Amino acid sequence: MRILVTGSAGFIGFHLARRLLEAGHDVVGVDGFTPYYDRTLKLKRHEILAQSQSFTGCEAMLEDLPALQDIYGEGYDAVYHFAAQAGVRYSLENPRAYVDANLVGTFNLLELMRHKPPAHALMASTSSVYGANASVPFREIDRADHPLTFYAASKKANEEMAHAYGHLFGIPITMLRFFTVYGPWGRPDMALFKFAAALFEGRPLDIYNRGDMRRDFTYIDDLVEAMILLLEKVPPAPSRRQSAPSEIDSLSPTAPWRVVNIGAQTPIALMDFVAAIEAATGLRAACNFMDMQEGDVPLTHADTRLLIQLTGFTPRTTLQDGVNAFIAWYRAYFGL
Ligand SMILES: NC(=O)c1ccc[n+]([C@@H]2O[C@H](COP(=O)([O-])OP(=O)(O)OC[C@H]3O[C@@H](n4cnc5c(N)ncnc54)[C@H](O)[C@@H]3O)[C@@H](O)[C@H]2O)c1
Repeated sequence: MRILVTGSAGFIGFHLARRLLEAGHDVVGVDGFTPYYDRTLKLKRHEILAQSQSFTGCEAMLEDLPALQDIYGEGYDAVYHFAAQAGVRYSLENPRAYVDANLVGTFNLLELMRHKPPAHALMASTSSVYGANASVPFREIDRADHPLTFYAASKKANEEMAHAYGHLFGIPITMLRFFTVYGPWGRPDMALFKFAAALFEGRPLDIYNRGDMRRDFTYIDDLVEAMILLLEKVPPAPSRRQSAPSEIDSLSPTAPWRVVNIGAQTPIALMDFVAAIEAATGLRAACNFMDMQEGDVPLTHADTRLLIQLTGFTPRTTLQDGVNAFIAWYRAYFGL
């Protein structure tokens, strides 16, 4: 297949593109190499992908419609859309970046897909859309109408924009709600990377909400596996359905569109996460206990029954194995 991956120099896009190349697909990767975090890391990820002759890397911002139009050309068999301004906390500082990348950028991509639709588009959303939801685990069919950050609001808007385009123009779209993804080549603004950096530099770790937080940490290889399996699970248009969707299926009544959680379904307490990093590094952490950050939630917990129903897959990497793999990569990358 010919597959477009947006955000291919990012953490998740890089890993997914690498897996697609290994499986023999032709991959075109587009990334704007934004300065939100170290560009060198992004350049190195693209260098690895470029070792495959089946990879074409392009530098462009999604907001640049003519550039994106050139890359989109006659279209693709499938599209994975990851390029976005990510990060919950940064959306308090610079909300406009989220309007530009997530709203305008995603709109541009939808417009191109409208005229030359892929057989399936899979687009990144986030557990943050569950916002103030108190009922756990989070189910795709639950209402998610009370975002706590502008990041979450922009991702929820992406889900709705995709639904409208799916309904109007018949583009089959799966929205993927990710839960705190971690692993080698991870993001420097996320907890694992920040904690590792602090530990190796002998600084205390900033622990929010005094450690009273739990996250459904998802290992990158598990996430990639789930996304590869979902590629074949194209949401059917209403006229093509042989039976009614199951009661946990988020399939739209009017569009070839659904939302799927991808999480480990095992919330981990923050201090257990810290203990796993200590075990992996052999270093003892000093902790700087702080208050909850604005817009943060104390718990994320995925209900993954829909993922299992569709793919039979359930994440299997233990936290300690995943953290060990990250620390091994971190040491090699920084020559420690
Ligand atoms: N990592 C997680 O835990 C997590 C959790 C929930 C959702 N997500 C979502 O998954 C997707 C991928 O996340 P990630 O962790 O790989 O983040 P990332 O920041 O590593 O990757 C995003 C990539 O998109 C590129 N980009 C940003 N704005 C762009 C623009 N306007 N035009 C072109 N390229 C642009 C960046 O340069 C970057 O390489 C994002 O949509 C993010 O919101 C991630």
